[in-house]
Amino acid sequence: MFSKDVYVNRRSALKSKIDKGILLFLGNSDASVNYPGNQYRFRQDSNFNYFFGLTDPDLAAIIDLESGEEIIFGNDVDIDDIIWMGPQPLISEKAQKVGVTKTYPLAHLDEFVGKAASQGRKVHFLPPYRYHNMIQLHRLLGIPFDQMKSSASVEFIKGVVSLRLIKEECEVAEIEKACNIGYKMHYTAMKTMKLGMVEQELVGIMEGISISEGLMPSFPIILSQNGETLHNHSHHQILTEGRLLVIDAGAETNTNYTSDFTRTLPSSGKFTQQQKEIYSIVSAANNLAVDMARPGITYSSVHQAASRVMAQGLADLGLLKGDVDEIVAAGAHSLFMPHGLGHNMGMDVHDMEDLGENYVGYDDTYKRSTQFGLGSLRMGKMLEKGHVVTVEPGIYFIPALIEQWKREGTNAQFINFGALEQYYTFGGIRLEDDILITDNGSRLLGDKRLPITVEDVEREMEN
Ligand code: GLY
Repeated sequence: MFSKDVYVNRRSALKSKIDKGILLFLGNSDASVNYPGNQYRFRQDSNFNYFFGLTDPDLAAIIDLESGEEIIFGNDVDIDDIIWMGPQPLISEKAQKVGVTKTYPLAHLDEFVGKAASQGRKVHFLPPYRYHNMIQLHRLLGIPFDQMKSSASVEFIKGVVSLRLIKEECEVAEIEKACNIGYKMHYTAMKTMKLGMVEQELVGIMEGISISEGLMPSFPIILSQNGETLHNHSHHQILTEGRLLVIDAGAETNTNYTSDFTRTLPSSGKFTQQQKEIYSIVSAANNLAVDMARPGITYSSVHQAASRVMAQGLADLGLLKGDVDEIVAAGAHSLFMPHGLGHNMGMDVHDMEDLGENYVGYDDTYKRSTQFGLGSLRMGKMLEKGHVVTVEPGIYFIPALIEQWKREGTNAQFINFGALEQYYTFGGIRLEDDILITDNGSRLLGDKRLPITVEDVEREMEN
């Protein structure tokens, strides 16, 4: 938890952005795995944590925009809870720590929300993503389940996004901690992996580091020799000579700040010539994007510049043909990178995706493209000081997609389909770092950058 002032100031800034009504914050509740008492690791809602700083289940809060009143709702533990969970501070004591002086039992939430609604006051809420909170909203406000996302308050969403997107110093410090844990997860995997190991062993080692130093991984670890599947969560394969292992993983701190790194490693410790050629193109695109990112440039233009580097590299290898600007304008390079260059990162690894990607990564001036590939870019708008974004270019050879484009003649004038056949078992390469946008540029987050050049990776894996 940060100091009280941090939360007081955030709530005060939010109040100044929205005129009337009440703001309703629903914290998360425990979710059961296979019977009520066996629960997933608890994770607080990021918006609740951002404004109210408490990371226990079954809390809610209200900000009354007219009276300025702030209330936290939650139940104090009873003797049964104390027997099973040990003594806990009172809700009022916890609330004091984040500058809230009014608290009530959770059952009183209905009365407050009901009263505001019956007076015709607007009850602003954020789009729910957990069924428990959807049921709560249905009960409190009678909103049909299929209208819950569309009934969420756009003013509230925009207010929250405008604050959470620009990271405060205390947040950057937490993200750096998450990056340092993420570094250790990746570096340990790089040093430990050996031919003959099962991928799952590395997942367990990495997950163990994240739990021993923070809350958990920031998302289920992606680790596979079939890296052409962008988010591959199958970890059953044995590390085999000549293959590439994509590892995309990060950590989450106990305060819910995240990291997200990807490295692609040769299974034996040495890249083949073909792997080196593709790898060098992806690392050049990564470096260019880190160098280019600065306030006053859109992330969409950084994506396009990185795409040009990759298109040029693939053309030099004879896999693409024609003018590089025309290739990128047509989106032909997206056959090899069907995703965006990166996304905002903070308390969520895809920061505020629950609030709607287009509110977070786009605005009234910068609209999302509908083109294949570029349309998957989660962050396209103007970069500003304090943004934290991932930089994650990749080149993948996805046989089913190549075959589809070949069959349908998609961008056929730019693609050398014949030459691609020797890459059908290549897999994929993605290289991802996390950056903070500074006054006039960007800087890599974390104390040390994970090895990224061919030479550094091979040297680290040898020793
Ligand atoms: N690194 C995982 C993702 O961006 O979805």
